[in-house]
Amino acid sequence: MKVADIRRTFLKFYESKGHTIVASSPVVPGNDPTLLFTNAGMNQFKDVYLGFDHRPYKRATTSQKCIRAGGKHNDLDNVGYTARHHTFFEMLGNFSFGDYFKKDAIHFAWELLTEHFHLPPEKLWVTVYAEDQEAYDIWHKEVGIPADRIVRIGDNKGARYMSDNFWMMGDTGPCGPCSEIFYDHGPSVQGGPPGSPEEDGDRYMEIWNLVFMQFYRDEKGEMHKLPRPSIDTGMGLERIATVLQGVHSNYDIDLFKNLLAAAKAAVESVSTVPADINSPSLKVIADHIRACAFCVADGVLPGNEGRAYVLRRICRRALRHGYKLGARGPFFYKLVDAVRKEMGEAYPELMNHEIEKVIEAEERRFLQTLSKGMDILDAAIAENKTGVLPGDVVFKLHDTYG
Ligand code: SER
Repeated sequence: MKVADIRRTFLKFYESKGHTIVASSPVVPGNDPTLLFTNAGMNQFKDVYLGFDHRPYKRATTSQKCIRAGGKHNDLDNVGYTARHHTFFEMLGNFSFGDYFKKDAIHFAWELLTEHFHLPPEKLWVTVYAEDQEAYDIWHKEVGIPADRIVRIGDNKGARYMSDNFWMMGDTGPCGPCSEIFYDHGPSVQGGPPGSPEEDGDRYMEIWNLVFMQFYRDEKGEMHKLPRPSIDTGMGLERIATVLQGVHSNYDIDLFKNLLAAAKAAVESVSTVPADINSPSLKVIADHIRACAFCVADGVLPGNEGRAYVLRRICRRALRHGYKLGARGPFFYKLVDAVRKEMGEAYPELMNHEIEKVIEAEERRFLQTLSKGMDILDAAIAENKTGVLPGDVVFKLHDTYG
């Protein structure tokens, strides 16, 4: 299944279970000062959970554009160096607003994974919140998962490892215990089951998070019960695509293979050396172009504050990696068209050709800054006899010259 088929199958499955297919909200959250970027499918429904907003449906399903490059959920520094972190990704989700709860959420997820995505049940592991006996019993007694593939995990307070089965949108907002579904890539891949000391390896990969929304956490950290128990689930589209396409890295799925090939061609168009298709720098570029293209499509322009600054940082991080690969002219903007080709059908906002212009202008600005910075660095090295650059020069290079 290609990425586009997986997205369609997910949404159609939940539609057949009475869910309304709702369009992704923009990467810039509407009316929510607590968030820099949309970081989960449930963001656009926050007020519905809280009981302030009412919709004509009680069940919804989405494929949501998300950015995790600032704030509570921030993956920026990992991107390019791991198999599965992204600045921009798509989250598939189903939501119940005071309608069904744990039992149906778990049964729906299992049916989709085993009967529509045809995953072998023995490859699937689940975690439940340590005290959530109800979820444990549904998985064990109703679904039939053996006890040795169900792991109970607490929140971080007492836990030995960093696992966490209590999901919060941010410091404040709707939250609740969750149950995660993992796929076992098999013994040829390093890593241990969730909750074990080796859990950070790539063998057991979290594919889906089912959150049983029950509380609202306020500014003081106090928990209040939501008007009605609700459901919020999130499955990373790129991750489930690796499983369904039989690969281990998100960068090996159809969408990223095409973006990596386009990134290689774009870098080489302004370089005199070939770019290694396996280099982390190329992955950074292939990842960051999606975040940049969608930010601009949703109205963010590079700047010096807030989300504008995050966009500038992401863009400059990609350009620095291009520079490392030998690029000496603008190349990044050329990749917008590759993103459009892969995702334009699902996200028509990508059809706007201003996106290239904004990114190219930012790129030219940064190239000038970077080359000035390189001159300052070269001069400082030439003048320096000690082998250690003075702190003020280093600070200036970082702060002013990117
Ligand atoms: N909100 C949860 C998450 O982001 C499930 O969608 O993981």
